[in-house]
Amino acid sequence: MSKNLTKHDFIVSRQRREKVNGHKGMVLWFTGLSGSGKSTIANNLDDKLNNLGKRTYILDGDNIRLGLNNDLGFSAEDRKENIRRISEVAKLFAESGAIVMTAFISPYKKDRDAARKLIGNDFNEIFVDTNLEECIKRDPKGLYKKALSGEINNFTGIDAPYEKPTDPEVIIKGLSVVDSVNLLLKFMNI
Ligand code: ADX
Repeated sequence: MSKNLTKHDFIVSRQRREKVNGHKGMVLWFTGLSGSGKSTIANNLDDKLNNLGKRTYILDGDNIRLGLNNDLGFSAEDRKENIRRISEVAKLFAESGAIVMTAFISPYKKDRDAARKLIGNDFNEIFVDTNLEECIKRDPKGLYKKALSGEINNFTGIDAPYEKPTDPEVIIKGLSVVDSVNLLLKFMNI
């Protein structure tokens, strides 16, 4: 832990940034199994919001793990650190007045709750509740096949846990991508 640090206040407040953007900053925290549809739904929502002139950004598991978090694996401890860093980044984006969508499995309830605590009122948990059988059937990256044959381990849903949200703001279950996006737009009052 570094010492001798002082938090700087900016001249431009969050309110001023939001006024320029024409909307408030917020975080839509997608959680669900690999292959559940988090990234697809976030991308389609992003597309829609962008067309409506909103300032948005997506933080996506695979992308962030290729860069900022390329030192992290899939142990419980590394996933915790993954989520902690993403929470901090998402908080910064929200403070910049952007609508930020995060698409990480985020399998542990206590890590998501820590994100909620850090981000505060801007945090909205979106549970993409696609069951494991369906995710295995989709297997878009062929990773379930590898996990089931033992080629990779610590895979969420196979030999690593997924703790379902108990009180998410939105549950997406059995909806098409279009209906999922419409549900989220309604939730956002857009
Ligand atoms: S999280 O658990 O730390 O939130 P994150 O969303 O960043 O995971 O990364 C998940 C993505 O990494 C999956 O969609 C998949 O493409 C890839 N992946 C590789 N190995 C694993 C694994 N052991 N468990 C889950 N996902 C994995």
